[in-house]
Amino acid sequence: MKGLNKGPILVTGASGGIGSAIVRHLTEAGATVIAAGRDEIKLANLAAQTGAEALAFDLTSEDSVQDALEAREIWGVVNCGGFGGEIATPMDTDIGVFDKVIAVNARGALLVTKYAAREMIRIGKGGAIVNVSSQASLVALKGHISYGASKAALDNITRASAMELGPHGIRVNSVHPTVVMTPMSTWYWGRPEIEGPFLKTMPLGRWATEDEIAAPIVFLLSDGASMISGAALPIDGGFTAV
Ligand SMILES: NC(=O)c1ccc[n+]([C@@H]2O[C@H](COP(=O)([O-])OP(=O)(O)OC[C@H]3O[C@@H](n4cnc5c(N)ncnc54)[C@H](OP(=O)(O)O)[C@@H]3O)[C@@H](O)[C@H]2O)c1
Repeated sequence: MKGLNKGPILVTGASGGIGSAIVRHLTEAGATVIAAGRDEIKLANLAAQTGAEALAFDLTSEDSVQDALEAREIWGVVNCGGFGGEIATPMDTDIGVFDKVIAVNARGALLVTKYAAREMIRIGKGGAIVNVSSQASLVALKGHISYGASKAALDNITRASAMELGPHGIRVNSVHPTVVMTPMSTWYWGRPEIEGPFLKTMPLGRWATEDEIAAPIVFLLSDGASMISGAALPIDGGFTAV
């Protein structure tokens, strides 16, 4: 795929299931990748396997994000770091969990955008950002009051960033995966009474794999997507279309 070698691409959440697949796809496509997360051992293993550079920082700390990203060469970003929070209704939600979900999924992605975009603009070669949102931001899902709200906040960060960064040649898009059976989701979506009824309503009728999320993200970073900005791409087997 063309256009992936214009400069380093930062992937947050690289120590997780989907993020590590994104790092693999990007490095296999010839990109220079900075693999970010908190777990230094997982990041070091991924770096050894893929040739990516490991970079540990905490998405909830502005100082940590700033120290990690300031004065770095960055051309692209995948905001994939995320926290699933809780399964709760508006009546029984733990508001402390809400604060944490927002702190990682929305505030953390904005902090990364803030410091990465400054460097991208300074370097002046344009760029691309992909925010990993969720099907949960596009429709109401039972039990997902906090998580859905955090991803809906991220969606407006995507649109506002596309507007503000477009004049600098920086494209900003989001992807909206359905469930991938990573540790974040298996404990809930793997239950037969949850999985069965849900998959019956999805046209493709199965969960996504990590590779099926990574491949469209790589496309959105590439020159093939050079006129796409501000878009929200469902990767959900048609779930939100019906
Ligand atoms: N799995 C799904 O079904 C699904 C569906 C739709 C969207 N998504 C989204 O896809 C993304 C990746 O999910 P996943 O399933 O791969 O989850 P995962 O395996 O649990 O990975 C989560 C990643 O986020 C990082 N992270 C969490 N809190 C952080 C913090 N405070 N600072 C820095 N990094 C932090 C983790 O880093 P450490 O482990 O190093 O702390 C890890 O790399 C998330 O944004 C998620 O919301 C997932």
